[in-house]
Amino acid sequence: MLTLGIETSCDDTAAAVVRDGEEALASVVSSQDDLHAPFGGVVPEAASRRHLERIDPVVTLALSRAHAALSDISLIAVTNGPGLIGSLLVGLSYAKGLAARAGIPLVPVDHVHGHLLSLAPAGGVPLPCVSLLVSGGHTGLFLVEDLRSYRLLGTTVDDAAGEAMDKAAKLLGLGYPGGPALERAAAGGDPAALPLPRPMEGAGLDFSFSGLKTALFTYLSAHGYLDRTREGRILPLSTADLAASFQEAVTAVLEVKCLRALRETGLRRLTISGGVARNRALREKLSLASLREGFSLHLPPPELCSDNAMMIAAAGYVLRETAPPDPLSLNAFSTKGLRRSSGASRPRETNR
Ligand code: KG4
Ligand code: ZN
Repeated sequence: MLTLGIETSCDDTAAAVVRDGEEALASVVSSQDDLHAPFGGVVPEAASRRHLERIDPVVTLALSRAHAALSDISLIAVTNGPGLIGSLLVGLSYAKGLAARAGIPLVPVDHVHGHLLSLAPAGGVPLPCVSLLVSGGHTGLFLVEDLRSYRLLGTTVDDAAGEAMDKAAKLLGLGYPGGPALERAAAGGDPAALPLPRPMEGAGLDFSFSGLKTALFTYLSAHGYLDRTREGRILPLSTADLAASFQEAVTAVLEVKCLRALRETGLRRLTISGGVARNRALREKLSLASLREGFSLHLPPPELCSDNAMMIAAAGYVLRETAPPDPLSLNAFSTKGLRRSSGASRPRETNR
């Protein structure tokens, strides 16, 4: 059974063809980094216009790479939230049109649920597991006991981890997208050079990252880093040291919270997903912890961590029974953050 996945929740236009929810035959991701880089962040209106230009060629390319015609597709899965509403509506409207034209069932997929099933096309999701989602829009710890639902264990009370890294990179003048730029800049830097706080490290499974960014800003402004006339002045720490210290502060808190979630749930399996899960410092930290503490760590390959349509197709396949009889009635939802959800076609998500 072939599922066509479509993902346009933020700034990547993505389509994938996945067999039986686990074998990716094709995956195409068209990034908009070039469009948003001059602004240092995603410009929502520009993002939806670019999705509009790209969605048809991206879906056509995914089908041709999978050597599949639309008539071979048994199910279309599309992200309908959360995300940027204009961006979501492009993918959803396109998917509705395709489904109506070809008479194919259409299933809406929650973007977070997609990330939690990132490992489906890479050998399967090990169940039950604790799952850390760290992206630009979300940071949360989840209990995943079956593929159809998940439970929120803890989430950020302010910025997402990726958002914090993006903002820190911007402060350090490292460009956009910030996370990968920060990782590159941190190479060779001393992670202990700048003692930054470890917000909310002591207790609970919630996160907070906005204070970390403020701490960096305070240090930079107090020591003349943000001074336009600093040319030629010798500053106390190198950009590599500052980037490494910030990366260390974020990843250290993520590690502590993952270990606590494993302890509290009694589970011995950890998965991670989201763009920040590409970060090598985080992957190494968690790998070392898994050896030290004796739990199994399941890392998706980088292309499955950041936004893609393979995970949406995989989640759609799992949720196929919930495809509504009238797909044209579907709507998008933008809700930011990890909230309690309801309805049979939406995953179960509850706060502690
Ligand atoms: O999952 P994703 O592609 O989109 C969202 O749903 O947000 O995640 C994008 C986020 C951005 O904040 C980006 O800076 C961050 O993931 N990111 C990284 C790395 N690659 C992407 N952060 C740290 N290190 C990386 N290597
Ligand atoms: Zn995402």
